[in-house]
Amino acid sequence: MRWNQRITIKDLPLYIGQTVTLPGWIQFSRKSSQVRFLGFRDGSGLIQALLIKGETPEEVFGLWSELRQEASVSITGEVAACEQGPLGVEIKVSHIDILGTGGDFPLGRKEHGPDFLHNLRHLWLRSKKQVALFQIRDQVIQAIHEFLWSQSFVKMDSPILTGTVGEDPKGLFKLDYFDLGPAYLAQTGQLYLEASIFAHGRVFCFGPTFRAEKSKTRRHLAEFWMLEAEMAFFDAQDNIDLQEDLIHFILNRVLERCLAPLEVLERDLAPLKRSLEPFVRLDYKEAVKLLAQIGPLLVDGDDLGATHETALGEHFGKPVFVMDYPKAVKAFYMKEHPEEPTRVKCADLIAPEGHGEIIGGSQREEDIDKILARLAEAGLAPETYDWYLDLRRYGSVVHSGFGIGLERLVGWMAGMHHIRECIPFPRMMERLTP
Ligand code: 4AD
Ligand code: MG
Repeated sequence: MRWNQRITIKDLPLYIGQTVTLPGWIQFSRKSSQVRFLGFRDGSGLIQALLIKGETPEEVFGLWSELRQEASVSITGEVAACEQGPLGVEIKVSHIDILGTGGDFPLGRKEHGPDFLHNLRHLWLRSKKQVALFQIRDQVIQAIHEFLWSQSFVKMDSPILTGTVGEDPKGLFKLDYFDLGPAYLAQTGQLYLEASIFAHGRVFCFGPTFRAEKSKTRRHLAEFWMLEAEMAFFDAQDNIDLQEDLIHFILNRVLERCLAPLEVLERDLAPLKRSLEPFVRLDYKEAVKLLAQIGPLLVDGDDLGATHETALGEHFGKPVFVMDYPKAVKAFYMKEHPEEPTRVKCADLIAPEGHGEIIGGSQREEDIDKILARLAEAGLAPETYDWYLDLRRYGSVVHSGFGIGLERLVGWMAGMHHIRECIPFPRMMERLTP
């Protein structure tokens, strides 16, 4: 049978009353006096398979003790309608082939600590909550692509090995690059996207990015996925309008297509629905004033920390753009504020419920001299930016862009406390395996 004609669990509602054979894994097993229940999954869904005393052939019923958690099996049986489960069907088993035994699967039903689970990440990914979480991540990724492609964006993949520092020289992973000296793992694809707008107008990239920051927080990974977009002829205002529309599109999609996984994760939907309203837009100076009232205090001129972001998110209960930060706390490429040269035309989007900054974006500086001055202040070697400055020499235009941290976005939508669970194999200061 061709691969696309195979029956999988998700198709079973169409086969009620018929006998089918399909491969998969035993997720769990339990028994009553007359019936043995198997949780049976194949990646497309999870259903219950029943072995019934007196009904299931005796030699098949007798296999039950070998049907351990995570054994791989091929099950044959009649599909029957039932009340339980999202699909509303179960299988009455008539035959089972054991493909691979389950052994003593180390992840049972009891609670395990995060270290134990992360050490067994390669097995933990099979658990019900982890499956739900990655279904949501996948829908978020699909929604991002759909939205951007529907708005005439072109995907321009950016390099991971780079010779130009994109963000913060303190947070670089460095390696030797043949005879050319040091190379860095990309902290961002932005500079390459900026080059691409002159060819395509609106572009995006989506890939792993690397930060060697020594932060052990619930919001930091050493390797995370970032969606970055860059648009010609967009000013700071257009930039945040687009971001708000994109986040609303993703949120609507998740609320439409991910209700079952959200339920598995016991996610409260009320705060997500509230975020379908227009987002709050707060000037940095207004944020300083507000934080003076609600705490914690933010010293004018300082960057927002996690506690400030949490306070703002809690105060408004929906995402908040904080706009036009002090120049000194932001990257060299951000456009100087035309009325207040100590600030830049940027915005961070802060998610509610303690999830913090999920987007960083800005209008870009067009003035070469200003960029050179900022590079010098940041201690970045100007000669490695000569190609970047060409973008200001040939057909320079107003342009803007932003980057969304995928794991933080998914963490917020799925209601995960720590973003390390929101990527299949997290890379953090203290973890490189599995
Ligand atoms: O604010 P950041 O550093 O912005 C940039 O890299 C820009 N070049 C993006 C652009 O304008 N094209 O990072 C963007 C987002 C943050 O808002 C955050 O969501 C996420 O990336 N992020 C991290 N996520 C997980 N772990 C880390 N260490 C992160 N650092 C940033
Ligand atoms: Mg940022």
